[in-house]
Formats: sequence, C-alpha cells, structure tokens
Amino acid sequence: MVEHRLIDRMTLLMRKALVQVESTHEVNPVFLDTGVDFIRIYADRTHHGKEEDMLFRDLSKRPLSAEDQRVMNELIEEHVFARETTRALIDANTRYRIGDESALADITSGLHTLVEFYPKHIEKEDKVFFPASRAYFTDREDQAMLPEF
Ligand SMILES: [Fe+2]
Ligand SMILES: [Fe+2]
Repeated sequence: MVEHRLIDRMTLLMRKALVQVESTHEVNPVFLDTGVDFIRIYADRTHHGKEEDMLFRDLSKRPLSAEDQRVMNELIEEHVFARETTRALIDANTRYRIGDESALADITSGLHTLVEFYPKHIEKEDKVFFPASRAYFTDREDQAMLPEF
C-alpha cells in the first residue's frame, strides 16, 4: 500500500500531462519515456511482481472464498491490461518521435486509460483485496513475507 502512494503520484503527473496534450496537441516525449519507464519497472515489474509472484502465489495455496478468488482473478487480468496499455503507449511514443501523425491520438487515449485505470485498481486492492488477504495469514506468516518482498 505504501508503494501505491508512489504510483498515485505518477498518475497525477500523467493526468497533468494529459491535460497539456489535449490543450496544446503536443507531447513531451521525454516525459512520456520517464512515465512509462516508471510504470514498467516500478509499477509493473516490481510492484505487480510482488503481488503476483509472492502474495497471489501464497494465497493460491489457501482455501480462498469464491469472492476473494474472483477478485484475485480480476486483479491478475487488470495487470495484463495495464501491461498491454503501457506497451501500446511506448509504441505510440516511438511513432510520435518519427513524425507519425496518428500517434498523438494513441498517446492521448493510452494516458487516459492509465490515469483512469490505476486509481480504481489501487482502490480495489487497498480497500477490498488486501484487507481480505490478511485473514488468510497469521501475523508470523505475514511478517515472513516482508523479507521476500
Ligand atoms: Fe495490482
Ligand atoms: Fe497494487
């Protein structure tokens, strides 16, 4: 959840960039590079990596309620969606740099999708899934997960 606060900050910067792109019809490709680098390395590989490769892995060995199982599957699908959206945004930025005029619309829609996506995904984890997850682990198991993270 602490890591979510950092993703929130990048989402806010991307929201500002989106407003700017919509008003000026120009994008700063260096900002986009930095933004997608953060999303790929931090939000996806590091953060979603901890969720999928450790938390969800351990949860999948527990007798999850049907509802918790459903939400976990949704979160996994959402990670795939975020990855695909980020990949498309990187591709659009590359096309923008070489002067492809259709790229700006794809950048706008990719940014829009990500700034809508992350707050909802994060809220579902913070308020629904993570609190529910705690019930499947003892305090000792919970603490043992930290060094692996
Ligand atoms: Fe997640
Ligand atoms: Fe998360």
